Amino acid sequence: MPVVTLNVTDLQHTLTIQQPESGLALQGRIRIPGDKSISHRSLMLGALAQGETIIHGLLLGEDPRSTAECFRALGATISELNSEEVRVRGIGLGNLIEPKDVLNSGNSGTTLRLMLGILASHPDRFFAVTGDASLRTRPMSRVVDPLKQMGAQIWGRRQGALAPLAIQGQTLHPIHYRSKIASAQVKSCILLAGLMAEGQTTVTEPALSRDHSERMLRAFGAQLTTDPETHSATVTGPAHLTGQTVVVPGDISSAAFWLVAGAIVPGSDLTIENVGVNPTRTGILEALQSMGANITLENPRDVAGEPVADLRVRCLSHSGSLPLSACTISGNLIPRLIDEIPILAVAAVFAEGTTVIRDAAELRVKESDRIKAMATELNHLGARVSELPDGLEIIGGTPLYGTQVDSYTDHRIAMSLAIAALNASGTTHIHRAEAAAISYPNFTATLQQICGEY
Ligand code: S3P
Repeated sequence: MPVVTLNVTDLQHTLTIQQPESGLALQGRIRIPGDKSISHRSLMLGALAQGETIIHGLLLGEDPRSTAECFRALGATISELNSEEVRVRGIGLGNLIEPKDVLNSGNSGTTLRLMLGILASHPDRFFAVTGDASLRTRPMSRVVDPLKQMGAQIWGRRQGALAPLAIQGQTLHPIHYRSKIASAQVKSCILLAGLMAEGQTTVTEPALSRDHSERMLRAFGAQLTTDPETHSATVTGPAHLTGQTVVVPGDISSAAFWLVAGAIVPGSDLTIENVGVNPTRTGILEALQSMGANITLENPRDVAGEPVADLRVRCLSHSGSLPLSACTISGNLIPRLIDEIPILAVAAVFAEGTTVIRDAAELRVKESDRIKAMATELNHLGARVSELPDGLEIIGGTPLYGTQVDSYTDHRIAMSLAIAALNASGTTHIHRAEAAAISYPNFTATLQQICGEY
């Protein structure tokens, strides 16, 4: 009897995971898809640059596909997407064409928020942007307000708080924006808008969020400085970007599912190759190691301006004993593992003691309300999880029993529940599992591979 099966009915997939009588140990070497954040940025900067950008290792998930579609409509020539090599012929900053139709960001907050900074700073052109049902509920004022301070003209439901949005491009002026939230999407949106504003545009954030935009803008030739003390980044406009070769490392947010799987399933030994280990993203490694997970970084190297390593995870404990111990996660660590909190909640179920996650209210406005989704679905499986206004409290050590659970159409919820199911007795059905393709199209195949079915 196979452990992992995928039932595809119409557009909805149900992922079924059945615990074998003999137990399960996960073994093997895994290659994960390209980093989602870096993939978006390479397509966008490639489109805005003069000359050709060559992207190796692009994520072929639905989110980067949305970005590619939008920037094709804005005038960039982007070859067919594949993970080997994508060629982008840029049109140069300021030269975007006015599309004849609405730009659709699909499920991707990064596409919509970063693109807004670019569109708002292109004078004499009108743009309309939208997204799917989830994205149309997500807050846009966090980028619309600072852009308006720069002189942008943007309209939308609730004073521009919700997509669909209409943008009349303007010549923007630089600002120093002090953001109340640590958000790479907010920071990147303003820095991208600042590329065309004459003078210095600065963003200061309360804690450092991922810095891929800063690294890549510099590599493409923008004048950009950072101040690590104050968590500030400054770009000087008008900028001139030149096409580059970008090598996209594996996404640590996708690796996180295998790291937790390897840490909680007794007898496991997994190596995840070619993972981006940018320090603004490695909070998950620190959190899991503080919980006692056996994770080692092998073969550390630098690939095109981003640090990369292979990650080996082993679970040395026996079935019957808890493999991890509880921890508290809060403060400046949160932006460094914001997308990994759903899978970290799964790890906490298999940790001795009570894990508390705080300062993570942002999770309520991701692709779903991830606090509510994880508490509800893990409790269905038998865990003891309470919602906090800004996080979760998880009492570890209750056994999980397979049942019916739902992804809330959120990719990270779907994959987190699949990993929880590996340690649940009986059979778990994860409904609307197709959401995984947003960031991880081959998730099910890799799951089958490490369960020994390929
Ligand atoms: C992202 C930033 C994060 C993250 C998202 C991708 C990015 O969002 O959750 O998946 O690529 O800039 P916030 O910056 O809004 O926290």
